[in-house]
Amino acid sequence: MTDRYAVFGHPIAHSKSPLIHAAFSRQTEQDMTYEAILAPTDGFADSVAAFIAAGGRGANVTVPFKEQAFALANRLSPRAEHAGAVNTLAFDADGIFGDNTDGAGLVADLVRNLRCPLAGKRILLVGAGGAARGVIGPLLDQQPAALVIANRTVSRAQELAEQFGHGIRACGFDGLDAPFDLVINATAASLAGELPPLSPRLFTADTLAYDMMYGRDTPFLAFARTHGSATADGLGMLVEQAAEAFYLWRGVRPDTAPVIASLRAA
Ligand code: ATR
Repeated sequence: MTDRYAVFGHPIAHSKSPLIHAAFSRQTEQDMTYEAILAPTDGFADSVAAFIAAGGRGANVTVPFKEQAFALANRLSPRAEHAGAVNTLAFDADGIFGDNTDGAGLVADLVRNLRCPLAGKRILLVGAGGAARGVIGPLLDQQPAALVIANRTVSRAQELAEQFGHGIRACGFDGLDAPFDLVINATAASLAGELPPLSPRLFTADTLAYDMMYGRDTPFLAFARTHGSATADGLGMLVEQAAEAFYLWRGVRPDTAPVIASLRAA
C-alpha cells in the first residue's frame, strides 16, 4: 500500500510542501503520497487522528499548529523539546513522535547552500517568537563566537536567553550598533511588509542578511542590500527542513539543490 503523508495548517492552500515532497519522492523513487490538509483551528488533534486512522504515516505541521503538535506527540526528539514546537510528526505502533527540523533546515541552508560556516561567527537573531526559538539550539550547536537575540519586546528575548543559557546576550533594537557576520530576521515583520528598526551599522560588505520568510523581497533584505550586505531569503530553509523530515520518514536524503532551483525559477 502506498504510504501517505500530509502537511497540516490553516491556511494551507499556499503551502509549497506538497510540491517539494513530490519532487523528493520522484527523485528517490519512494512509493508515497503527500497532500495538504486544512485543519480547523479548533480541530487539529481530530484531523491528525483521522489521518492516522486512514493510514497516514507522517506529517508536517505549519502555522498555527506547531505548539499543538508539540503537545500531541507522546515522544519528542531533543531538538523538538528545546524548540517547544513540532513541525514533523511520525506515526508508528508506539504512537506519535514529534521532531523539529526547522533549525536543522536553516543551518543546512546557511552552511551547505550559502557556504556560510557558523563556527566562530557573530550571529544576530532578530525576533523572539516561535520562529526564533525553533532555531536557537541548532545555531548554538555550530559554536558561533556570539549569539545575540534582539527583540522589540526585550523581556521575550531575555526569556529565551535565560532558557538556552550559553552566554547568549538579549537586547532591544537600540542596544545594537556593532557589525555582525550574520543577521537572521525571525520576526513576523516581513509578513506585514515592515522593517524592524535596526541600525545600519550592523550591516557591512562581510555580513550575510537572512530572512526566514520567502517568496518576495522583504524590507529587511532591501535595507541590508542598501548597506552593502549579501542577502538570502528562506526558500532554501523551507526545502532543507522538508528534506530533514523526509529523511526521518524514509531514511533517504534527497538532493535539495534541483528542488530549490526549480522553486526559485517558478
Ligand atoms: P512566530 O511564530 O512567527 O515567531 P510570534 O511568536 O507571534 O510568531 O512572534 C513574532 C515575532 O515577530 C516577535 O519577535 C515579534 O516581536 P514582539 O515579541 O515584540 O511582539 C516580532 N515582530 C512582529 N512584528 C514586528 C515588527 N513590525 N517589528 C519588529 N518585530 C516584530
